Amino acid sequence: MYPIKNKWKVENMTLRTRHFYTSWRCTKSYIFLVGSFCFLMACILLIPNVSHYFTISTPIHVQEKLHRLLYFTRDTEESEESKESSFFRNNTSNIKKSSQKSQKKEGNAKVSRKASKGIQENYIHLHPYRFLINESDKCTKRTPFLLLLIATKFNERKHRQAIRMTWGNETVVPGVEVIRLFMLGVNEKVSNQAILSESRRYHDIIQQDFVDTYKNLTLKTLMGMKWVATYCSKASFVMKTDSDMFVNTEYLIKKLLWNVRLPKMDYFTGSIMTGYKPHRFITSKWFMPKEMYPEDEYPSFCSGTGYVFSTNVATRILSRSLKVPYLYLEDIYVALCLNKEGINLTPPPREDLFNIHTIPFSPCTYHSLITSHEVSPSTLLFFWKILQDKKHECP
Ligand SMILES: *[C@@H]1O[C@H](CO)[C@@H](O)[C@H](O)[C@H]1NC(C)=O
Ligand SMILES: *[C@@H]1O[C@H](CO)[C@@H](O)[C@H](O)[C@H]1NC(C)=O
Ligand SMILES: *[C@@H]1O[C@H](CO)[C@@H](O)[C@H](O)[C@H]1NC(C)=O
Ligand SMILES: *[C@@H]1O[C@H](CO)[C@@H](O)[C@H](O)[C@H]1NC(C)=O
Ligand SMILES: *[C@@H]1O[C@H](CO)[C@@H](O)[C@H](O)[C@H]1NC(C)=O
Repeated sequence: MYPIKNKWKVENMTLRTRHFYTSWRCTKSYIFLVGSFCFLMACILLIPNVSHYFTISTPIHVQEKLHRLLYFTRDTEESEESKESSFFRNNTSNIKKSSQKSQKKEGNAKVSRKASKGIQENYIHLHPYRFLINESDKCTKRTPFLLLLIATKFNERKHRQAIRMTWGNETVVPGVEVIRLFMLGVNEKVSNQAILSESRRYHDIIQQDFVDTYKNLTLKTLMGMKWVATYCSKASFVMKTDSDMFVNTEYLIKKLLWNVRLPKMDYFTGSIMTGYKPHRFITSKWFMPKEMYPEDEYPSFCSGTGYVFSTNVATRILSRSLKVPYLYLEDIYVALCLNKEGINLTPPPREDLFNIHTIPFSPCTYHSLITSHEVSPSTLLFFWKILQDKKHECP
């Protein structure tokens, strides 16, 4: 088809092109190999940063991991006496001394300055946060029977208001001292002024200076534990719950906590979840990377939607938390601490008391349960009104 002259040209072109393609392929493979090598090296050097990039973990986890990689044996080396339960008291001199001590210990191991700084931070990582609002005298004038610790977010003023008017009303059971506290971290984008004035008005908010995010929920719970241990250790029982819950405080007190057979120490109850496995899919809300939690199953835990414990447990969880690597799933983290402390979960007397889902409303069902989930502020007010009107008719 082609004229002879052109045919030669085309064949020549094809050959050249082919040659070009071959060398391009070689170059590509070369680039690929070199690239992979560099990437691998980068990964090895920056493992913590890689996981941080995927927002798997907070800097806290990074420190924790670094700590575990570099000083795997440190915890076992530490004697029990240096447990330093005094960490959770605000004693900077103590903290400093201890860090120096641990630094000295590791001085022998060939450690870079940077790494030993990481360790130092890790060692006190769970409790470096300061109370911005402490309500430190809430418990000095009275000895509560029940303390309600409610995890809330900044923009949930309506939730808090509804809870104040319903199950969080401190006079809900006449003759029984109840104290209500909402727990908050800080929001970097919003001014704290509204919270401060709400706090001045109701005196029922405690706040620490950690950033208030889902992954920091464990910090919120630990703040509550710290508050109990520091300012209210004479209370009898504590309930930790969420702002989207219905809680039947009266039933909780009268039917569960007044039960004389209850042990007053090391008591922990709620909706017990058994046999749950870590989610290994990165897209899951409860994603848990293997390096953070290597086991295939979680210990039995009480759902964070509402659990109740005797006050001494708060102190035990708090001191144990200095040695249990941080997990952002607060209820599982608490269970890990309890496990290590040898505290068993007590099943509630009835399975249908603590509910992690929404229970269809009827006055008599709600009269004889303790928690129901996902109740909006307006629904809560509505349910409460009906319940108060009708509860006398229930068996
Ligand atoms: C802080 O700890 C030091 C050393 O353990 C102790 O001497 C001091 O009294 C403590 N201070 C407070 C305010 O607890
Ligand atoms: C802890 O102590 C430091 C300095 O001693 C002080 O600035 C801080 O306000 C204290 N925080 C609490 C919660 O007591
Ligand atoms: C608690 O907060 C008040 C008011 O902000 C402050 O004056 C007091 O020092 C704080 N107490 C402690 C122990 O941090
Ligand atoms: C709390 O309950 C008492 C009586 O049970 C009631 O008088 C008071 O108004 C309630 N408080 C709020 C904030 O609803
Ligand atoms: C948790 O709080 C700390 C302290 O404020 C902050 O540095 C960190 O970014 C927070 N983590 C997440 C995942 O938000």
